[in-house]
Amino acid sequence: MHDLAPTPPMGWNTWNALRGDYTDATIREIAGALVSSGMAAAGYEYVCIDDCWSEMTRRDDGRLLPDPAKFPDGIAALADDLHGRGLKLGIYSSAGSVTCEGYPAALGHEAIDAQSWAEWGVDLLKYDNCGDHGDLTCQQRYEAMAAALIATGRPILFSLCDWGEGRDWEWNGEAQVGHMWRNTYDVRPDWAKVLELLDQQPAVADRIGPNNWADPDMLEVGNPGLTVRESRAQFALWCALNAPLIAGNDVRTMTDDIRDVLTNARAIAVNQDWAGRPATPLTTGTTTQVWVKPMSGGGAAAVLLNRADPSAVIEVTLDDLGLTGTEAATTDVWTGEVSPVIDGQIAVEVAGHDAAFITVR
Ligand code: GAL
Repeated sequence: MHDLAPTPPMGWNTWNALRGDYTDATIREIAGALVSSGMAAAGYEYVCIDDCWSEMTRRDDGRLLPDPAKFPDGIAALADDLHGRGLKLGIYSSAGSVTCEGYPAALGHEAIDAQSWAEWGVDLLKYDNCGDHGDLTCQQRYEAMAAALIATGRPILFSLCDWGEGRDWEWNGEAQVGHMWRNTYDVRPDWAKVLELLDQQPAVADRIGPNNWADPDMLEVGNPGLTVRESRAQFALWCALNAPLIAGNDVRTMTDDIRDVLTNARAIAVNQDWAGRPATPLTTGTTTQVWVKPMSGGGAAAVLLNRADPSAVIEVTLDDLGLTGTEAATTDVWTGEVSPVIDGQIAVEVAGHDAAFITVR
């Protein structure tokens, strides 16, 4: 396996905001917005085309080509453009007969499809789980594609999207199939859904690490359906979970508030820091919760999450954070404000459906 994800991958994907409604021009506009907004400089690198990019049938030679109405110049020209801007290109298929939207998929065509993507200059493959699986296990189907990608010689980040059905966490680390693996069904821009996916992460917390990240699905930050507070709470949590940060909003039209969340360097630094385990919750509360992640520099990051409607004062102690000493201070990740910790006690008022995000050392 190529060492492509020593830290959680960052990028953008068509699906959450656009579904199949995109063309080559759209992707280039998105790439431009990633650069002009500061997101590219903040680390968002992979620009990913999800479902609905290809023709509806393979050519006689078995090749699967892009829909000429969407990509009149082909995919290679787009990849060149992205590479010229310092970005990378992601593409999508499924470990079955068809994709979730009914397009031809790669099961049984792994070698020829991987070859096409490598020739086009693709840098990432998201591999879904729709279509007929034959009699193959999940691990067999994903291993077949991993082998085909490796055989091309091109480093291609492999993102497994079997929604957790194949229990990737039981085999992916040892078998080194993919760099990240979805362990949930699909996210939606809906607070209850974000919390549902969040609550599935502690079960795999001790299964993840470099080149083996759990993926609780993409960000809905900035999409209609989540408020700015809910958006920044999802972002804080995904950062503390060491989750891949794949933005899913229309970055061409995002507000400054949302851009500030997505490009917050202190938050991204927490996401990219690996100290042996991601954030886990101190308690399984249904109203307030504190999620704690150790930082490699010796401190900790904490997300003080208010799951409910009324605002609440959320408390945590240095002991809870696994820290000792008398000189501790908190940094508010959102604002950068530093405050001393008095008597080992931290207390923050957090609005409903929002999260305070602090680092402590
Ligand atoms: C789902 C997948 C989504 C998106 C969609 C495309 O299975 O979980 O992230 O890729 O298919 O049809």
